[in-house]
Amino acid sequence: MSYKLIERVEGSTRILVPKRAKKALFYNPRMELCRDIDIAALAAFATHSNYNSNSMVYVDALAGTGVRGVRVANEVGLQVVLNDLSREAYEVINRNVKLNGIEGSTRIYNEDANVLLHRNRHRYDIVDIDPFGSPVPYLDSLSQSVKKLIMVTATDTAPLCGAHTGGLRKYAAKPLNTEYHKEMATRILLGRVTRDMCRYDRAIQPLLCFSSSHFVRLIARVERGAKRADECMRRLGFILHCFSCGNRYAIHCSELPDMSTRCEVCGAKFSIAGPLYLGPIKDNSFCKRVYEELRVRRLGKKREAQRIVATCMNELDIPFFYDYHGICKALKISPPSIHSLIERLNDSGFRASRTHFSDTGVKTEAKMKEVKEILKR
Ligand SMILES: C[S@@+](CC[C@H](N)C(=O)[O-])C[C@H]1O[C@@H](n2cnc3c(N)ncnc32)[C@H](O)[C@@H]1O
Ligand SMILES: [Zn+2]
Repeated sequence: MSYKLIERVEGSTRILVPKRAKKALFYNPRMELCRDIDIAALAAFATHSNYNSNSMVYVDALAGTGVRGVRVANEVGLQVVLNDLSREAYEVINRNVKLNGIEGSTRIYNEDANVLLHRNRHRYDIVDIDPFGSPVPYLDSLSQSVKKLIMVTATDTAPLCGAHTGGLRKYAAKPLNTEYHKEMATRILLGRVTRDMCRYDRAIQPLLCFSSSHFVRLIARVERGAKRADECMRRLGFILHCFSCGNRYAIHCSELPDMSTRCEVCGAKFSIAGPLYLGPIKDNSFCKRVYEELRVRRLGKKREAQRIVATCMNELDIPFFYDYHGICKALKISPPSIHSLIERLNDSGFRASRTHFSDTGVKTEAKMKEVKEILKR
Protein backbone atom coordinates (compact mmCIF):
# COMPACT_ATOMS: atom_id res chain seq x y z
CA MET A 1 0.00 0.00 0.00
CA SER A 2 1.30 3.44 -0.92
CA TYR A 3 -0.19 5.19 2.10
CA LYS A 4 1.81 6.39 5.03
CA LEU A 5 -0.16 5.51 8.14
CA ILE A 6 0.13 7.08 11.55
CA GLU A 7 -1.37 5.94 14.82
CA ARG A 8 -3.91 8.07 16.65
CA VAL A 9 -6.01 7.56 19.73
CA GLU A 10 -9.72 8.41 19.84
CA GLY A 11 -11.59 7.61 23.04
CA SER A 12 -9.86 4.45 24.26
CA THR A 13 -9.23 3.14 20.74
CA ARG A 14 -5.95 3.06 18.81
CA ILE A 15 -6.42 3.70 15.14
CA LEU A 16 -4.21 3.76 12.06
CA VAL A 17 -5.09 6.65 9.79
CA PRO A 18 -3.49 8.08 6.64
CA LYS A 19 -0.97 10.82 7.28
CA ARG A 20 -2.85 12.79 4.65
CA ALA A 21 -6.47 11.83 3.92
CA LYS A 22 -7.22 10.75 0.34
CA LYS A 23 -10.49 9.84 -1.27
CA ALA A 24 -9.56 6.13 -1.28
CA LEU A 25 -8.59 6.26 2.39
CA PHE A 26 -10.45 8.90 4.25
CA TYR A 27 -10.08 10.10 7.81
CA ASN A 28 -11.29 13.42 9.18
CA PRO A 29 -9.97 14.36 12.63
CA ARG A 30 -12.65 17.09 12.83
CA MET A 31 -15.30 14.36 13.08
CA GLU A 32 -13.89 13.09 16.39
CA LEU A 33 -16.53 15.24 18.11
CA CYS A 34 -19.29 13.50 16.18
CA ARG A 35 -17.78 10.08 16.94
CA ASP A 36 -17.50 10.89 20.66
CA ILE A 37 -21.20 11.78 20.72
CA ASP A 38 -22.00 8.58 18.77
CA ILE A 39 -20.18 6.44 21.34
CA ALA A 40 -22.11 8.01 24.20
CA ALA A 41 -25.39 7.79 22.25
CA LEU A 42 -24.89 4.12 21.37
CA ALA A 43 -23.96 3.28 24.95
CA ALA A 44 -27.10 5.08 26.14
CA PHE A 45 -29.24 3.31 23.54
CA ALA A 46 -27.77 -0.15 24.18
CA THR A 47 -28.00 -0.04 27.96
CA HIS A 48 -31.57 1.27 27.99
CA SER A 49 -33.15 -0.80 25.27
CA ASN A 50 -34.83 -4.10 25.98
CA TYR A 51 -32.41 -6.01 23.80
CA ASN A 52 -29.28 -7.83 24.75
CA SER A 53 -26.72 -5.22 23.78
CA ASN A 54 -23.92 -7.77 23.26
CA SER A 55 -25.82 -9.29 20.36
CA MET A 56 -26.90 -5.97 18.86
CA VAL A 57 -25.37 -5.45 15.42
CA TYR A 58 -24.11 -2.05 14.30
CA VAL A 59 -23.07 -1.54 10.68
CA ASP A 60 -20.94 1.29 9.36
CA ALA A 61 -21.74 0.89 5.67
CA LEU A 62 -19.17 3.51 4.57
CA ALA A 63 -16.48 2.93 7.15
CA GLY A 64 -13.31 4.62 5.77
CA THR A 65 -10.50 3.60 8.17
CA GLY A 66 -13.13 1.87 10.32
CA VAL A 67 -12.58 4.33 13.15
CA ARG A 68 -16.27 4.67 14.03
CA GLY A 69 -17.11 0.98 14.05
CA VAL A 70 -13.87 -0.08 15.71
CA ARG A 71 -14.65 2.39 18.48
CA VAL A 72 -18.21 1.06 18.74
CA ALA A 73 -16.92 -2.52 19.17
CA ASN A 74 -14.14 -1.48 21.52
CA GLU A 75 -15.87 1.18 23.64
CA VAL A 76 -19.53 0.09 23.59
CA GLY A 77 -19.16 -3.67 23.09
CA LEU A 78 -21.57 -4.11 20.17
CA GLN A 79 -21.20 -6.59 17.31
CA VAL A 80 -19.94 -4.58 14.35
CA VAL A 81 -20.03 -4.84 10.56
CA LEU A 82 -17.56 -2.61 8.74
CA ASN A 83 -17.77 -2.02 5.03
CA ASP A 84 -16.07 0.19 2.48
CA LEU A 85 -15.97 0.06 -1.29
CA SER A 86 -12.35 1.16 -1.40
CA ARG A 87 -9.78 -1.64 -1.31
CA GLU A 88 -7.30 0.58 0.55
CA ALA A 89 -9.90 1.35 3.20
CA TYR A 90 -10.81 -2.35 3.53
CA GLU A 91 -7.17 -3.24 4.16
CA VAL A 92 -6.75 -0.56 6.80
CA ILE A 93 -10.01 -1.58 8.50
CA ASN A 94 -8.56 -5.10 8.84
CA ARG A 95 -5.42 -3.70 10.43
CA ASN A 96 -7.41 -1.51 12.82
CA VAL A 97 -9.58 -4.41 13.92
CA LYS A 98 -6.45 -6.48 14.68
CA LEU A 99 -4.75 -3.56 16.41
CA ASN A 100 -7.63 -3.42 18.90
CA GLY A 101 -8.05 -7.19 19.24
CA ILE A 102 -11.73 -7.11 18.31
CA GLU A 103 -11.71 -9.76 15.55
CA GLY A 104 -14.27 -11.80 17.49
CA SER A 105 -16.95 -9.14 17.34
CA THR A 106 -16.31 -7.78 13.85
CA ARG A 107 -17.14 -8.65 10.22
CA ILE A 108 -15.50 -6.72 7.40
CA TYR A 109 -16.72 -6.28 3.80
CA ASN A 110 -15.38 -4.60 0.68
CA GLU A 111 -18.44 -3.78 -1.40
CA ASP A 112 -20.97 -1.20 -2.36
CA ALA A 113 -22.95 -0.07 0.69
CA ASN A 114 -26.28 -0.47 -1.13
CA VAL A 115 -25.43 -4.04 -2.16
CA LEU A 116 -24.46 -4.94 1.41
CA LEU A 117 -27.58 -3.43 2.94
CA HIS A 118 -29.97 -4.83 0.35
CA ARG A 119 -28.47 -8.31 0.51
CA ASN A 120 -28.79 -8.47 4.25
CA ARG A 121 -32.15 -6.76 4.36
CA HIS A 122 -33.85 -6.63 7.76
CA ARG A 123 -30.74 -7.90 9.48
CA TYR A 124 -29.09 -4.93 11.10
CA ASP A 125 -30.15 -3.39 14.38
CA ILE A 126 -28.25 -0.14 13.84
CA VAL A 127 -27.22 1.25 10.46
CA ASP A 128 -24.80 4.15 10.13
CA ILE A 129 -24.54 6.08 6.85
CA ASP A 130 -21.55 8.42 6.91
CA PRO A 131 -20.79 9.32 3.28
CA PHE A 132 -18.97 12.06 1.42
CA GLY A 133 -21.63 14.73 0.98
CA SER A 134 -25.21 13.55 0.71
CA PRO A 135 -26.61 10.34 2.24
CA VAL A 136 -29.53 10.32 -0.22
CA PRO A 137 -28.15 7.49 -2.46
CA TYR A 138 -28.19 5.17 0.58
CA LEU A 139 -31.51 6.08 2.20
CA ASP A 140 -33.54 3.42 0.39
CA SER A 141 -31.27 0.54 1.41
CA LEU A 142 -30.98 2.03 4.90
CA SER A 143 -34.77 2.11 5.21
CA GLN A 144 -35.09 -1.53 4.21
CA SER A 145 -32.25 -2.96 6.26
CA VAL A 146 -32.46 -1.17 9.62
CA LYS A 147 -34.35 -2.54 12.59
CA LYS A 148 -33.81 -0.28 15.61
CA LEU A 149 -31.69 2.81 15.11
CA ILE A 150 -30.49 4.97 12.24
CA MET A 151 -27.43 7.18 12.28
CA VAL A 152 -27.01 9.46 9.27
CA THR A 153 -24.49 12.16 8.41
CA ALA A 154 -24.80 14.81 5.71
CA THR A 155 -21.95 17.14 4.81
CA ASP A 156 -23.59 18.69 1.75
CA THR A 157 -24.85 21.54 3.88
CA ALA A 158 -24.95 24.05 1.00
CA PRO A 159 -27.89 22.45 -0.86
CA LEU A 160 -29.55 21.50 2.44
CA CYS A 161 -29.35 25.08 3.69
CA GLY A 162 -30.60 26.71 0.53
CA ALA A 163 -27.22 28.30 -0.24
CA HIS A 164 -26.97 26.35 -3.55
CA THR A 165 -29.49 24.79 -5.85
CA GLY A 166 -29.70 21.05 -5.29
CA GLY A 167 -32.02 21.02 -2.29
CA LEU A 168 -34.97 20.23 -4.51
CA ARG A 169 -33.08 17.78 -6.70
CA LYS A 170 -31.53 15.76 -3.86
CA TYR A 171 -34.02 16.18 -1.06
CA ALA A 172 -37.25 16.83 -2.96
CA ALA A 173 -37.74 19.78 -0.65
CA LYS A 174 -37.13 23.50 -0.87
CA PRO A 175 -34.76 24.97 1.73
CA LEU A 176 -34.53 28.70 2.36
CA ASN A 177 -31.30 30.49 3.16
CA THR A 178 -32.40 32.06 6.44
CA GLU A 179 -30.41 32.78 9.61
CA TYR A 180 -31.64 29.43 10.97
CA HIS A 181 -30.32 27.56 7.91
CA LYS A 182 -28.51 24.91 9.98
CA GLU A 183 -31.77 23.97 11.62
CA MET A 184 -33.49 24.04 8.26
CA ALA A 185 -30.84 21.65 6.90
CA THR A 186 -31.38 19.25 9.80
CA ARG A 187 -35.15 19.30 9.32
CA ILE A 188 -35.04 19.00 5.51
CA LEU A 189 -32.83 15.92 5.91
CA LEU A 190 -35.14 14.49 8.59
CA GLY A 191 -38.09 15.11 6.29
CA ARG A 192 -36.41 13.24 3.47
CA VAL A 193 -35.47 10.31 5.75
CA THR A 194 -39.08 10.21 7.05
CA ARG A 195 -40.46 9.95 3.52
CA ASP A 196 -37.97 7.20 2.62
CA MET A 197 -38.71 5.17 5.74
CA CYS A 198 -42.48 5.58 5.52
CA ARG A 199 -42.56 3.88 2.13
CA TYR A 200 -41.66 0.68 4.02
CA ASP A 201 -44.13 1.32 6.87
CA ARG A 202 -41.35 2.49 9.16
CA ALA A 203 -41.26 5.61 11.23
CA ILE A 204 -38.53 7.53 13.01
CA GLN A 205 -38.43 9.05 16.47
CA PRO A 206 -35.52 11.50 16.59
CA LEU A 207 -33.34 10.95 19.66
CA LEU A 208 -30.52 13.41 19.04
CA CYS A 209 -30.23 15.37 15.79
CA PHE A 210 -27.75 18.18 15.63
CA SER A 211 -25.47 20.20 13.42
CA SER A 212 -21.95 21.36 14.09
CA SER A 213 -19.35 22.97 11.80
CA HIS A 214 -19.81 21.40 8.36
CA PHE A 215 -22.11 18.46 9.11
CA VAL A 216 -25.60 17.40 10.15
CA ARG A 217 -25.99 14.24 12.19
CA LEU A 218 -29.23 12.35 12.82
CA ILE A 219 -29.70 9.70 15.48
CA ALA A 220 -33.24 8.34 15.47
CA ARG A 221 -35.08 5.29 16.77
CA VAL A 222 -36.95 3.18 14.22
CA GLU A 223 -40.57 2.17 14.71
CA ARG A 224 -42.56 -0.23 12.59
CA GLY A 225 -46.10 -0.29 11.28
CA ALA A 226 -48.33 1.68 8.96
CA LYS A 227 -49.96 3.56 11.84
CA ARG A 228 -46.62 4.76 13.19
CA ALA A 229 -45.54 5.72 9.68
CA ASP A 230 -48.73 7.74 9.17
CA GLU A 231 -48.17 9.54 12.49
CA CYS A 232 -44.60 10.28 11.45
CA MET A 233 -45.69 11.71 8.10
CA ARG A 234 -48.03 14.05 9.97
CA ARG A 235 -44.96 15.64 11.56
CA LEU A 236 -43.96 17.02 8.16
CA GLY A 237 -44.89 20.48 7.04
CA PHE A 238 -43.64 23.82 5.82
CA ILE A 239 -42.15 27.01 7.18
CA LEU A 240 -43.45 30.32 5.87
CA HIS A 241 -40.80 32.99 6.11
CA CYS A 242 -41.13 36.69 5.32
CA PHE A 243 -37.77 38.02 4.14
CA SER A 244 -39.11 41.55 4.37
CA CYS A 245 -39.82 41.73 8.14
CA GLY A 246 -38.52 38.38 9.47
CA ASN A 247 -41.98 37.09 10.46
CA ARG A 248 -42.16 33.29 10.24
CA TYR A 249 -44.31 30.36 11.20
CA ALA A 250 -44.67 26.62 10.68
CA ILE A 251 -47.66 24.79 9.27
CA HIS A 252 -48.34 21.08 9.04
CA CYS A 253 -49.15 19.40 5.72
CA SER A 254 -52.76 18.97 6.82
CA GLU A 255 -53.27 22.74 7.06
CA LEU A 256 -51.70 23.91 3.82
CA PRO A 257 -52.23 27.64 3.36
CA ASP A 258 -53.47 29.50 0.39
CA MET A 259 -50.16 29.98 -1.48
CA SER A 260 -50.97 33.62 -2.08
CA THR A 261 -51.10 34.29 1.70
CA ARG A 262 -49.20 37.44 2.54
CA CYS A 263 -47.33 38.33 5.71
CA GLU A 264 -49.86 39.66 8.19
CA VAL A 265 -47.27 42.04 9.63
CA CYS A 266 -45.85 43.78 6.56
CA GLY A 267 -47.92 42.50 3.63
CA ALA A 268 -44.92 41.06 1.72
CA LYS A 269 -45.18 37.68 -0.03
CA PHE A 270 -44.10 34.72 2.11
CA SER A 271 -41.33 32.40 0.96
CA ILE A 272 -42.02 28.73 1.66
CA ALA A 273 -39.55 26.07 2.81
CA GLY A 274 -40.27 22.37 2.86
CA PRO A 275 -41.56 19.83 3.16
CA LEU A 276 -39.51 19.40 6.29
CA TYR A 277 -39.74 17.73 9.69
CA LEU A 278 -41.50 19.93 12.25
CA GLY A 279 -41.61 17.61 15.28
CA PRO A 280 -39.08 17.48 18.13
CA ILE A 281 -35.62 16.60 16.85
CA LYS A 282 -34.36 15.21 20.16
CA ASP A 283 -35.65 13.23 23.09
CA ASN A 284 -34.78 14.96 26.35
CA SER A 285 -34.51 11.83 28.49
CA PHE A 286 -32.27 10.22 25.87
CA CYS A 287 -30.08 13.36 25.77
CA LYS A 288 -29.78 13.16 29.56
CA ARG A 289 -28.48 9.60 29.33
CA VAL A 290 -26.05 10.57 26.55
CA TYR A 291 -24.80 13.43 28.71
CA GLU A 292 -24.23 11.02 31.59
CA GLU A 293 -22.31 8.65 29.28
CA LEU A 294 -20.17 11.56 28.11
CA ARG A 295 -19.52 12.58 31.71
CA VAL A 296 -18.08 9.21 32.77
CA ARG A 297 -16.01 8.52 29.66
CA ARG A 298 -12.52 9.62 28.64
CA LEU A 299 -13.06 11.36 25.32
CA GLY A 300 -10.99 13.81 23.30
CA LYS A 301 -13.88 16.16 22.57
CA LYS A 302 -15.74 15.61 25.83
CA ARG A 303 -16.33 19.28 26.72
CA GLU A 304 -17.60 20.28 23.30
CA ALA A 305 -19.75 17.16 23.11
CA GLN A 306 -21.26 17.85 26.54
CA ARG A 307 -22.00 21.43 25.57
CA ILE A 308 -23.85 20.36 22.40
CA VAL A 309 -25.86 17.61 24.12
CA ALA A 310 -26.76 19.80 27.13
CA THR A 311 -27.91 22.62 24.86
CA CYS A 312 -29.95 20.20 22.72
CA MET A 313 -31.59 18.85 25.87
CA ASN A 314 -32.72 22.31 26.96
CA GLU A 315 -33.80 23.51 23.52
CA LEU A 316 -37.48 24.28 22.99
CA ASP A 317 -39.22 22.14 20.37
CA ILE A 318 -39.80 24.97 17.92
CA PRO A 319 -38.64 24.48 14.30
CA PHE A 320 -36.73 27.77 13.94
CA PHE A 321 -35.00 30.42 16.01
CA TYR A 322 -34.20 34.13 15.93
CA ASP A 323 -30.69 35.45 15.52
CA TYR A 324 -31.00 38.28 17.99
CA HIS A 325 -27.66 39.88 17.09
CA GLY A 326 -28.94 40.30 13.53
CA ILE A 327 -32.18 41.82 14.82
CA CYS A 328 -30.28 44.24 17.10
CA LYS A 329 -28.05 45.28 14.21
CA ALA A 330 -31.10 46.07 12.08
CA LEU A 331 -32.62 48.00 14.99
CA LYS A 332 -29.30 49.81 15.58
CA ILE A 333 -29.17 48.83 19.26
CA SER A 334 -26.46 46.95 21.07
CA PRO A 335 -27.37 43.34 21.87
CA PRO A 336 -27.98 42.36 25.50
CA SER A 337 -26.55 39.11 26.83
CA ILE A 338 -28.47 36.06 25.66
CA HIS A 339 -29.26 35.23 29.26
CA SER A 340 -30.89 38.61 29.83
CA LEU A 341 -32.92 38.35 26.61
CA ILE A 342 -34.23 34.92 27.64
CA GLU A 343 -35.13 36.34 31.04
CA ARG A 344 -36.93 39.31 29.49
CA LEU A 345 -38.89 36.98 27.18
CA ASN A 346 -39.83 34.79 30.16
CA ASP A 347 -40.92 37.87 32.12
CA SER A 348 -43.20 38.80 29.22
CA GLY A 349 -44.80 35.36 29.42
CA PHE A 350 -42.95 33.63 26.55
CA ARG A 351 -41.01 30.41 26.85
CA ALA A 352 -37.50 30.86 25.46
CA SER A 353 -34.25 28.88 25.21
CA ARG A 354 -30.85 28.87 23.60
CA THR A 355 -30.19 26.63 20.60
CA HIS A 356 -27.13 24.52 19.81
CA PHE A 357 -27.44 25.65 16.16
CA SER A 358 -26.14 29.15 16.95
CA ASP A 359 -24.53 30.99 19.85
CA THR A 360 -26.64 34.05 19.04
CA GLY A 361 -29.87 32.15 18.39
CA VAL A 362 -32.94 32.19 20.63
CA LYS A 363 -35.92 29.86 20.37
CA THR A 364 -39.14 31.34 21.61
CA GLU A 365 -42.88 31.29 21.12
CA ALA A 366 -42.80 35.07 20.76
CA LYS A 367 -43.32 36.42 17.24
CA MET A 368 -40.70 38.58 15.53
CA LYS A 369 -42.70 41.72 16.36
CA GLU A 370 -42.69 40.86 20.05
CA VAL A 371 -39.00 39.94 20.06
CA LYS A 372 -38.21 43.34 18.54
CA GLU A 373 -40.35 45.17 21.11
CA ILE A 374 -38.69 43.31 23.98
CA LEU A 375 -35.21 44.05 22.59
CA LYS A 376 -36.02 47.76 22.27
CA ARG A 377 -37.18 48.07 25.88
C1 LIG B 1 -16.82 10.13 4.80
S1 LIG B 1 -15.99 8.64 4.50
C2 LIG B 1 -16.36 7.62 5.87
C3 LIG B 1 -15.75 8.04 7.15
C4 LIG B 1 -15.89 7.10 8.32
N1 LIG B 1 -17.26 6.64 8.52
C5 LIG B 1 -15.33 7.76 9.58
O1 LIG B 1 -16.06 7.90 10.59
O2 LIG B 1 -14.16 8.17 9.53
C6 LIG B 1 -16.93 7.91 3.21
C7 LIG B 1 -16.42 6.53 2.79
O3 LIG B 1 -17.36 5.96 1.88
C8 LIG B 1 -16.66 5.13 0.98
N2 LIG B 1 -17.58 4.91 -0.14
C9 LIG B 1 -17.90 5.74 -1.17
N3 LIG B 1 -18.87 5.20 -1.94
C10 LIG B 1 -19.19 4.00 -1.37
C11 LIG B 1 -20.13 3.00 -1.69
N4 LIG B 1 -20.95 3.11 -2.74
N5 LIG B 1 -20.19 1.90 -0.88
C12 LIG B 1 -19.37 1.77 0.19
N6 LIG B 1 -18.44 2.70 0.53
C13 LIG B 1 -18.35 3.79 -0.24
C14 LIG B 1 -15.40 5.89 0.68
O4 LIG B 1 -14.38 5.01 0.25
C15 LIG B 1 -15.10 6.53 2.05
O5 LIG B 1 -14.19 5.74 2.78
ZN1 LIG C 1 -43.44 40.47 6.81
